[in-house]
Amino acid sequence: MTSAKLSLNGQEYELPVTVGSENEVGIDITALRSQSMAITLDPGYGNTGACRSAITYIDGEQGILRYRGYPIEELAGAARFTEVCYLLINGHLPNPEELAGFRNLLTYHSLIHEDMKKFFEGYPPSAHPMAILSSMVSALSTYYPDMATDAHVDLNIIRLLAKSKTIAAFAYKKSIGQPFSYPRNDLSYTANMLHMMFSVPAEEYEVPKVVDDALNLLLVLHADHEQNCSTSTVRLVGSSEANLFASVAAGICALWGPLHGGANQKVIEMLERIHADGGNFHKYLDLAKDSKSDFRLMGFGHRVYKNFDPRAKILKASADKVLKELAVDDPLLELAMNLEARALEDDYFVERKLYPNVDFYSGIIYRAMGIPTDMFTVMFALGRIPGWLAHWKELRQDPDRRIGRPRQIYTGETRRAFVSLDQR
Ligand code: CMC
Repeated sequence: MTSAKLSLNGQEYELPVTVGSENEVGIDITALRSQSMAITLDPGYGNTGACRSAITYIDGEQGILRYRGYPIEELAGAARFTEVCYLLINGHLPNPEELAGFRNLLTYHSLIHEDMKKFFEGYPPSAHPMAILSSMVSALSTYYPDMATDAHVDLNIIRLLAKSKTIAAFAYKKSIGQPFSYPRNDLSYTANMLHMMFSVPAEEYEVPKVVDDALNLLLVLHADHEQNCSTSTVRLVGSSEANLFASVAAGICALWGPLHGGANQKVIEMLERIHADGGNFHKYLDLAKDSKSDFRLMGFGHRVYKNFDPRAKILKASADKVLKELAVDDPLLELAMNLEARALEDDYFVERKLYPNVDFYSGIIYRAMGIPTDMFTVMFALGRIPGWLAHWKELRQDPDRRIGRPRQIYTGETRRAFVSLDQR
């Protein structure tokens, strides 16, 4: 198969076909408009490929997710988050020297400029930490402005990866009125994050291994997901040659929405609401199915996965284990399991191929780890940053790169004459 034919208004157009390494087929319409004056229309981009990418492969029908060829199940069981960051950004798993060097860089760039601490004072105590994270990431560009060379770009990639967890932890400390805990060079990426969130000057804090491992798993599972809403945002902003920090700050804002990364917070709020309402989840399932109601079962459904979300499968098993190890008895876990079981045998959800997604169980684990609900999406963002960085870097190196600029089908008024104010 080398080309596809399109027939339009009696005219035939031959369109080249491009095939990916997993035999995904794309009809290349680059020359369509110049030849035919027609464009394609695809609201939500469910059928539109915006780039070629070698980072992540998803087969939504089979429930497959691979980073740089490695199955998520294998990475989730064996890799540390920093190894996955290296893999996504550089394309191969690091050898021991490469990993040691990378960890060293992440450790020594984790402090933020002391002046930036003053920014936190300006936010109201009720500020959502996603707003703080996005604005502080954007503010990093004021400290590290130019990216003239590839080496400089690589350094800013390290800076962003290293400093974002410090910013996230400081945002949390600010929200609860505790003093900031500085990063420690003897701790791993995940242990450092937990130390900065939970340690206080008044006493020793030892990072519990079970919490550290759970955070590692969550970050690995969230690290990339090809051309989703936030990653496409990072690429779109980056396509105008906006700097790395500005591009990623935009991605953080896109992730915040409840249909995307913000769903993990909404899942817990939904479970709390059902629990407070006597635990009658049947009522809420009916509400989710009612076309007159705008209530959706949060943590259910996915644009790409139409069989199961492999990340949700891993997290469901992990939620059970983590809660047992931490001796947490959370009624929301049982409620979530009952809700899931009932939805999976309901025709409405079966027909629409609606399965639990990554956000359905992640919130329960974050809760058990002691992370407050409004920090959940921040944790998702921390996990996703290596993916955004890998895509931003790939875009920068792509010889086919052009500024992103979709077209539209105009449906407004046709030409009409201006009417002066006194005549209206
Ligand atoms: N509860 C009830 N009905 C649903 C749900 C849901 N969670 N999700 C989709 N539907 C229905 C929808 O009403 C529609 O029904 P109908 O054909 O009768 O009009 C049908 O299923 C198709 O839905 P859609 O909105 O066209 O599907 P989409 O691919 O545009 O949206 C989604 C995908 C994830 C935004 C959506 O499933 C949703 O809103 N889910 C809840 C929010 C959520 O959990 N988001 C996290 C996604 S995973 C993390 C990430 O990577 O962002």
